[in-house]
Order: sequence, then structure tokens, then C-alpha cells
Amino acid sequence: QDQANAGEKKVIVMGTNAEFPPFEYREGDKVVGFDVEIAKKVAEKLDAELKIEDMLFDGLIPALEAGKIDFIAAGMSVTEERKKNVDFSNGYYEASQVIIVTADNETIKGPEDLKNKKIGVQLGTTGDMEAQNIEGAEVVQFNAGFAAIMDLQNGKVDAVILDSEPAKNFASQNNQIKILDVELTKEEYAIAVKKGNTELVNAINAVLEELKTSEYDRLVQKYFTA
Ligand code: ARG
Repeated sequence: QDQANAGEKKVIVMGTNAEFPPFEYREGDKVVGFDVEIAKKVAEKLDAELKIEDMLFDGLIPALEAGKIDFIAAGMSVTEERKKNVDFSNGYYEASQVIIVTADNETIKGPEDLKNKKIGVQLGTTGDMEAQNIEGAEVVQFNAGFAAIMDLQNGKVDAVILDSEPAKNFASQNNQIKILDVELTKEEYAIAVKKGNTELVNAINAVLEELKTSEYDRLVQKYFTA
């Protein structure tokens, strides 16, 4: 009955890559996760309707620059390189890159053992960049971290470099793999907006600020692997 009003409600588009539990993943045909919860609050604050575009991770920044999406919420780490192309909100999560090997692997114990090895990564991620810096390594790029882990189990790669939380998430459901107890990097996730979109970045920062004082812990408990 409220046709006119419904039509007027503005739409805000989140770009993501739903291959990254617990931050974004698919439940049936829906994209859910920690980042989606944040995005919903941003939409609420702007009195807008949230739309989610699921795409390849390395297509997110181009899509933002082209105006196809309004912001990226994808467990995206702040890097100097990315800052040249996008503006980031304040950070909302501290992460790191970790090494995953098969559970029976006794030879790869730390980063120094990755030299000259085949390393699986998700294309365009900070894990990809980290792997490129390893001497003699052959980096195999996948469109999803999960696919890299499949190939690890099939023996097609020797190790996978992935963000800590998705790694824990995958390992908790798969006793064929293990995570080494070393953090390769220190990173911070933030939400990216088109360069110069201060209005949106301010709204996002306000939501993040409110979250910290209230619901953040509840969301962590709901989504994160203990
Ligand atoms: N934190 C890493 C990066 O910024 C990986 C993020 C991958 N996110 C995703 N939704 N697939 O490069």
C-alpha cells in the first residue's frame, strides 16, 4: 500500500565476496555473516535498503571505482596500496595471515619451510601478496580460500596462506588440515568506500563506534569459532 514510499527508499549496495566465513558466506541463496550485520546497521542508519552484490574478491575495488557498489565489506585489510584507490573506514577487526597444511605434514613448521613450495592463496588478497614474497615459491591463485584447501587435500599445493578467522572456520570442520601456530602478518579489516565519499565513511564510522560499545561482543560470539 505504501508504493510511493517504498519506491523512494534509497538503496545502498554492499560489495563482497561470500567465500570468507565467518565474515561473509552463503546460507542457501542468502549472503550472511559478521560483515553483513555491520552493513545492515549502516543501511539502517542511512534509512536505506541494503542490497548485496557477491563477486570475485579482486573485482571489488574496480566495482567500487566504477560506482557499481557503494562500499566494500569483505574482511578487506587496509593496505597502503589499496589506500591509493579507496578510502577506508576505521578498522573493525584485527587479523593475520596463517599457514594451513595437511594434518599429517611434519615438514612445514613455519614460514621458513615455505621456500620453493607450492602455495595456494585467494587471488588478490593480502595472503596472495605475502606468498609472492616467499623465495622460490610457486603461488597458485584460487577464486576462493575453500578451493585452495581442497587442492591442499588433493596434494596439488603444499600449503595455503589464508586469513586467521576463515582458516579457523575451515579447520574446525575438517580434521584433515591444521593451522600452524605462527602469524605471518598483522592486518586490520575496514570498510572501503569510493575515494572522497566522506558522507558514507562518516556514517560507517559512527556505526562502528556504536557497535564497539554495545553489540560487538555478541556478534563475535555468534559468528566466530572459539
Ligand atoms: N583480508 C584479506 C585481504 O584483504 C582477505 C580478504 C578476503 N575476503 C573475502 N571476502 N574473500 O586481502
